[in-house]
Amino acid sequence: MNASINGFRMHFDDAGKGAPILFIHGFPLNRTIWKAQVEALRKSYRVITPDVRGYGESEATPGVYDMELLADDMAALLRHLQCGPAIIAGHSMGGYMLFAFYRKYSELARGLILVSTRAVADAPEGKANREALAQRVEQEGPQPVVEKMLAPMLAAAAIAANPTLQSEVEYMMRNASLPGLAGASRGMAARRDATDLLSKITVPTLILAGTADALIPHAESEKMAQAIPNAHLHLFEGAGHLLSMEQPQEMNRVLAQWLKKFDSL
Ligand code: MLT
Repeated sequence: MNASINGFRMHFDDAGKGAPILFIHGFPLNRTIWKAQVEALRKSYRVITPDVRGYGESEATPGVYDMELLADDMAALLRHLQCGPAIIAGHSMGGYMLFAFYRKYSELARGLILVSTRAVADAPEGKANREALAQRVEQEGPQPVVEKMLAPMLAAAAIAANPTLQSEVEYMMRNASLPGLAGASRGMAARRDATDLLSKITVPTLILAGTADALIPHAESEKMAQAIPNAHLHLFEGAGHLLSMEQPQEMNRVLAQWLKKFDSL
């Protein structure tokens, strides 16, 4: 469905009934990365999966997509649906958004699920690479993003086990809007370091990562797990960056187990 959210037309799915869980996808993907989680969890929860502005079927806007802006979008969506506080999951860039969200809207978060992400900001070289990528996208379209992101997104084992997986991911990348790809690249480059926030997170937090993630080393997840007071870490052996599609059954099992703690809260 669509709604006017924070000044643009956002597309999202809202499935099931129960405690709300919001799943935020990463760069340069869309809400369909959570398809298996929606199918499994909608039986017991209200599962909300938005397309971030500029991605999937959501409208694109020009300019830099700062993580604070994208966090405002998510808070506005929860208010529109009248369903906060929610348990909120963020994959990679979705995790960067979650840190910005928690700084500003902690009252809307009942629990956090940090998937294949990190708290640290980019080093100067990483920031420059993102700006170069944004400029190439503006001139050439999505091809430079596909060249940079497709190969490291999935572990070889996942591609071998599911021959259509890589083309599904490529399809998402090629269908992202150019302002979305450029705007989020610049927004990620500008993001604030969240290391100082970790010890202040008071809600239950689940941290998930693949041991074969070629984009964000799982050591980043181990560091976050040590710094966040009420955190539980689960590593997926042999999985790459896109856990929700690479190991959907195992991820659903881990999510269902961890979510039980909210039944009694
Ligand atoms: C993502 O999956 O959202 C990106 O890999 C994050 C990043 O480029 O830092």
